Amino acid sequence: MRKPFIGANWKMNLLNRDARSFLQHLQNFAPLNAQKEIVVFPSMVYLSALSEHFNHLLGAQNVSHIKGFSSLTGETSIEQLIDLGIGYVLIGHSERREYYFESNEIISQKINTVLNKNLKVVFCCGESLDVRNEGRHFEWVETQLNCLLNQSPSLDSEQIVIAYEPIWAIGTGKTPTYDEINDIHAYIRSLIRNHSGEQVSSKIRIVYGGSCNESNANEIFSLPDVDGGLIGGASLEWNSFFNICNAL
Ligand code: PGA
Repeated sequence: MRKPFIGANWKMNLLNRDARSFLQHLQNFAPLNAQKEIVVFPSMVYLSALSEHFNHLLGAQNVSHIKGFSSLTGETSIEQLIDLGIGYVLIGHSERREYYFESNEIISQKINTVLNKNLKVVFCCGESLDVRNEGRHFEWVETQLNCLLNQSPSLDSEQIVIAYEPIWAIGTGKTPTYDEINDIHAYIRSLIRNHSGEQVSSKIRIVYGGSCNESNANEIFSLPDVDGGLIGGASLEWNSFFNICNAL
């Protein structure tokens, strides 16, 4: 039985006071939902202040690919995330790939940096609309997934969550059909099985992201190979996020 995972990816949204009030709600709600793992990824600028009270609920939206400290203006070191007691790091999000030109090579280095320091990775993958229309989404996701699979001969299912997020579904209100979502999740699980064996593949969590909201969460989360969600827009308000968490 896999423990469901829900991430709130706030991207570049919310001010300190909104973030605090949301996390206070979540803190009150979390013990009631010990069977689910809920992680919030706030803007990096608030991570330090928020970590004083809520570090067990927090993940980082980014980390430098360089291990240790370095002269890299504007970047955040893995050591600094460890210092704050942050548990998870989001890696490979399509917005980082597209707007900050993060290549599969840089993404592999980031994964390596995080796993080496025993933090956990939420690894994002997913295809553009062109790739989907050309029917190449399975091979596309497989290439992206190799960044993860090439890290070691066997993945640690406790250390990794995979988020399948078709780019054309992010923030658009469009989603693949439920069958399409399950098919690609099952395919990702089969790639993990071929690489790391049955035990790891049956335990690893594969979550869906891309216009997941209060109206579709229940159906998406009931798909056999979907273990939760990575939620953007619908995670910005406590009430809608709360309903999504309850849909699991
Ligand atoms: P969305 O974003 O829920 O707003 O589509 C999801 C994501 O980018 O992680």
